[in-house]
Amino acid sequence: MHFRHIEQLCCPLDQSALVVSGKQLCCASGHSFDIARQGYVNLLGAQDKRSRDPGDSKAMVAARRDFLNQGHYLPIAEHLAEIVVPLLGNSAVIADAGCGEGYYLQQLREHLDPSTAAATKMIGFDISKWAVQAATRRLEATWLVASNRNIPLAPNSVDCLLSLFGFPVFEAFSTALKPGGTALFASAGPQHLIELREVLYPSVRHSDSALAKQAVDAGFLEGESSTLAFTTAPLSQPEIHQLLTMTPHLFRASHEGKARAAQLQNVAVTVEVRFQQFHKPAQP
Ligand SMILES: C[S@@+](CC[C@H](N)C(=O)[O-])C[C@H]1O[C@@H](n2cnc3c(N)ncnc32)[C@H](O)[C@@H]1O
Repeated sequence: MHFRHIEQLCCPLDQSALVVSGKQLCCASGHSFDIARQGYVNLLGAQDKRSRDPGDSKAMVAARRDFLNQGHYLPIAEHLAEIVVPLLGNSAVIADAGCGEGYYLQQLREHLDPSTAAATKMIGFDISKWAVQAATRRLEATWLVASNRNIPLAPNSVDCLLSLFGFPVFEAFSTALKPGGTALFASAGPQHLIELREVLYPSVRHSDSALAKQAVDAGFLEGESSTLAFTTAPLSQPEIHQLLTMTPHLFRASHEGKARAAQLQNVAVTVEVRFQQFHKPAQP
């Protein structure tokens, strides 16, 4: 069976190299992992799971796919490409940690010229098997079910690591990155989806994740940052429902807040996204 970019992968149980053997990836210690018929591999060990069905649910993944397919977040993908494309040299390895259903890797691939696209190795992984299954339908890449807490990629193997609206684990990201490699984070700014949050919650708060401090504490050097802000076209009630389903808001909001949001129609929504780059030092 064809499986791409095997040289970047390692066993999640003992970090040794993986080789393709029939319809499995195997390490020298005898650990083996099936290649699913959709072409992804589940490298999530029992120790990496905190629930039976970790990560985004099937319904959240479907809502995100449907919402993103309508192009409402295309400016995010375009801004991402403006940052990432200049970072990619020849045969770069790019890993999307918490890749969801693969929209941003697909968009990045479309922003590369054909020869760079052919040479760039794209690896996406997510703890949700539903997300990874959906991603296999978006584009040919190396798709893995795996956790940010135990990344099954060889140390010093990644040029550019993306964590988009994700759950970063800085030490693991640093281990996977090559010296001089870049981690790029996208996170919600204070005004992100403010029109919906004002309806969902009695008072609106913004929790600052203090990303920069955590990254610097893990040994990263702070790089450039930018903020992208725009307003979507008016969203219909089904689109608002998709957008809320793909975020934590549907879990967090009260019954009353959700009932108010279910009445919304044709609301243009503010999108505010902060992009932050951090570099692994070239010399340890
Ligand atoms: C808000 S979604 C963002 C998905 C995608 N990056 C995007 O922007 O469309 C967060 C994703 O992180 C995944 N996730 C949660 N915990 C994770 C972990 N420990 N390791 C890897 N992925 C994780 C979820 O399953 C979900 O797909």
